[in-house]
Amino acid sequence: MSVQGEIKRITTHTLQSMKQHGEKISMLTAYDFSMARIFDEAGIDVLLVGDSASNVMAGHETTLPITLDQMIYHAQSVIRACHRSLVIVDLPFGSYQGNSKEALNSAIRIMKEAGAHGIKLEGGEEVCDSIKRIVGAGVPVMGHLGLTPQSIYKFGTYSVRAKEEEEAEILINNAHLLQSSGCFSLVLEKIPAALGAEVASQLKIPVIGIGAGRHVDGQVLVMHDMLGITKNFSPRFLRRYLDLYTGISDATKQYISDVKSRDFPNENEQY
Ligand code: KIV
Repeated sequence: MSVQGEIKRITTHTLQSMKQHGEKISMLTAYDFSMARIFDEAGIDVLLVGDSASNVMAGHETTLPITLDQMIYHAQSVIRACHRSLVIVDLPFGSYQGNSKEALNSAIRIMKEAGAHGIKLEGGEEVCDSIKRIVGAGVPVMGHLGLTPQSIYKFGTYSVRAKEEEEAEILINNAHLLQSSGCFSLVLEKIPAALGAEVASQLKIPVIGIGAGRHVDGQVLVMHDMLGITKNFSPRFLRRYLDLYTGISDATKQYISDVKSRDFPNENEQY
């Protein structure tokens, strides 16, 4: 029997227990009601309303433009669909970096207006005061280290982070700081697998990877990548489970053809 087999709603405590029992955590992004309902009913453990909505839903090049109001709108739609999954919402760029009061206010808006179960934010030492304040208000916080897309203009590229020893040591130190500041979990993005394994073994809290190898405590993918809706994006860590781009495109072409040829609607498809 899996850890979550007997319970109705996944909580941060369930995830902790899954780590202790060696049960891997499954997490996907979601941004709308219909997809979230499918994921929730399929049994996903965690849904992340990621600020990647800025890319895959709004078509921006980076995650920076999405606003707190827009994140709340996406989160409300996802929450309405979920009866079992833990729903975590990204604090968007500009909604928490100013100071810990701003961070707390943004987290409270997400909890109150969307009914989320927790928030995620990016960064290490520099966000620890904010994490302590948000956790102190009773809001679960997930950290995010490694490739942190809100800092893309600082990094300059989306390449693998912390390959050198110095950056790896800083990352490990930051992971411990996030844990001691009260994070219930940590996302590690695009780092060497050996470093992912090291962090997961050193931390007590669950570590969820995206391109952080197989020895972390769980995996997350962006739904559009996992389902093959995005094109021309094939990082090594991505496994596509469907080719929805082709499926949707073919269905659309067939529909156009049926309308033009007067095949649709037929006698049985009208009143
Ligand atoms: O916004 C997002 O989709 C994320 C995942 C990549 C973890 O932060």
